[in-house]
Amino acid sequence: YSLLPHNTFGMDVQAARFVEYTSVAELIAFLRDNKEELSSLLHIGGGSNLLFTQDYKGVVLHSAIKDYYIVKETETEVDICVGAGVVWDDFVAYTVSKGWYGAENLSHIPGEVGASAVQNIGAYGVEAKDLIVEVDTVAVADGSIRHFTNEECRYAYRDSIFKKELKGQYIVTHVTYRLSKQPVYHLEYGNIRAELEKEQGELSLEQLRRVIIRIRTAKLPDPKVMGNAGSFFMNPIIPVSQFEELKRSYSDLPSYPAAEGWVKVPAGWLIDRCGWKGKTIGRAGVHSKQALVLVNCGGATGCEVIRLSQAIVDSVKEKFGIAIHPEVNFI
Ligand code: EPU
Repeated sequence: YSLLPHNTFGMDVQAARFVEYTSVAELIAFLRDNKEELSSLLHIGGGSNLLFTQDYKGVVLHSAIKDYYIVKETETEVDICVGAGVVWDDFVAYTVSKGWYGAENLSHIPGEVGASAVQNIGAYGVEAKDLIVEVDTVAVADGSIRHFTNEECRYAYRDSIFKKELKGQYIVTHVTYRLSKQPVYHLEYGNIRAELEKEQGELSLEQLRRVIIRIRTAKLPDPKVMGNAGSFFMNPIIPVSQFEELKRSYSDLPSYPAAEGWVKVPAGWLIDRCGWKGKTIGRAGVHSKQALVLVNCGGATGCEVIRLSQAIVDSVKEKFGIAIHPEVNFI
């Protein structure tokens, strides 16, 4: 079974078996009837954060649970439960069309609802964890249902309990998000305000969504044109002391707030400063408009991409003394 349509990096690999389910009951039945295959399960979403380095010998599972329903609604807020297989940006478009605030800064992020809760996707000053109320899952081991509150998910930057202690143990089936019916805009990140100034008329949800999509499409390559998985690395979080030391040599080093005593710095900036933008090794390359994104220039293998990423990791370490780590999962 070809995984080419299931990974945005465009890796031409095969899976021994591919199974898609459309309901929680179907998933539970699959887990019950395929016990001997459970140790080789790989659950994927939109495949926008994966790098396949070889054929997958086991079963690849994919959710096609696509229902939406309102759990609770007040004058000011709405809690909506969404199937894990819904395309993330379809959900964002829906919230914007309803006039519900909260998800618009996360417009145009590739992938599906299930992954938003595992990876805590984020962009332009908002993270999925800011919206998530509850995550519904099924345990791989025994098919039991378990609900996780936001707190139980232990969210952090691009991180959750589903990537750590409970990795591979629970399958997300639905995610409940809380959106606001009253205007709350997040306009502080990067060039959002500058881009909004180019727009006519009063600020609206639709307008902000349009601007976010414009910013993203200007910087990030379209996977349909050039294979990629968005940011290849996470932004490293370094001690304040190291940041201040680096600032002495690189006064224009940007930063974002992190936990007390720590500073998050953009890996894209570090990689760019090492001269990688637009460079290629074999058929793998560094995007010419955003150095954080590695691209498949056509026919690259996962191993070629890893070779490039390792060369980048080494040069950032050498120049800045900072270890950067892939955000993308190598399979
Ligand atoms: N920069 C450079 N050169 C580059 C790239 C970036 O100098 O080649 C500088 C920019 O000028 C800016 C800073 O680095 O000062 C940050 O760049 P940007 O705003 O593009 O954001 P980022 O930190 O590189 C993160 C997320 C993106 C998200 C953007 C916007 C991570 C790993 N990535 O990127 O998420 O869209 O912020 O919020 O946190 C993704 O996860 O796939 C993704 C695209």
